[in-house]
Amino acid sequence: MAHILHIDSSPRAERSHSRSLTHRFITDWKNAHPQDTVTYRDLGHHPVPHVDEPWIAAAYSAPETHTPELQKAISLSDALVDELLAADRYVFGIPMYNFNVPSTFKAYIDQVVRVGRTFAMNDQGYQGLVHGKKMLVISASGGSYKPGTPAAGYDFQEPFLKAIFGLIGITDITFIRADNINMGTDEERKQSLTEASNAISQAVANW
Ligand SMILES: Cc1cc2nc3c(=O)[nH]c(=O)nc-3n(C[C@H](O)[C@H](O)[C@H](O)COP(=O)(O)O)c2cc1C
Repeated sequence: MAHILHIDSSPRAERSHSRSLTHRFITDWKNAHPQDTVTYRDLGHHPVPHVDEPWIAAAYSAPETHTPELQKAISLSDALVDELLAADRYVFGIPMYNFNVPSTFKAYIDQVVRVGRTFAMNDQGYQGLVHGKKMLVISASGGSYKPGTPAAGYDFQEPFLKAIFGLIGITDITFIRADNINMGTDEERKQSLTEASNAISQAVANW
């Protein structure tokens, strides 16, 4: 039995492709694995705050030294880290915004990449503390960034996600990308959504 953390980060509701694809995946997954449990977080409609000065002071000092103000400043981050660590698998719906993740998802990353909680720093550099997890990223983008396309070099989303989650120890990451959502022909958009849908069926069977 696995516990899944499902996060969406599009501010759109019914119109969101990343959101409808993650929901399709979770529905099919739950049908195939009824015993698995899911925690859902909607960053697109309920964003987490940006880190601020008290947050930074709390994150880089020992909890036993925290004043009530610092305890309050770090409490949501602690809860988000607990939620991340409690899950075995992650299903993240992430639109591409300005060649990267939306700021809602970046704010979430800033809350959960925490020294002493999800990574350690020592003489050997950084060490991830989050082990044995699997991540599925379902991304939607207006254009296409496939290798060989003119915009391939502008995809900072996939390398960024691999780097930052790799830093905390999550290296088993599968990407499903619905591209050409706003560009290209209707035919290309339909083909892209069909490919994403097929990839979701495969992931339900093999992930
Ligand atoms: C603020 C903003 C920035 C965007 N930046 C990009 C971009 O850099 N590259 C791209 O291919 N599409 C970009 N798009 C298009 C979205 O990635 C596309 O509409 C996608 O379907 C959004 O995900 P969603 O359908 O889950 O809401 C942008 C859209 C918005 C609203």
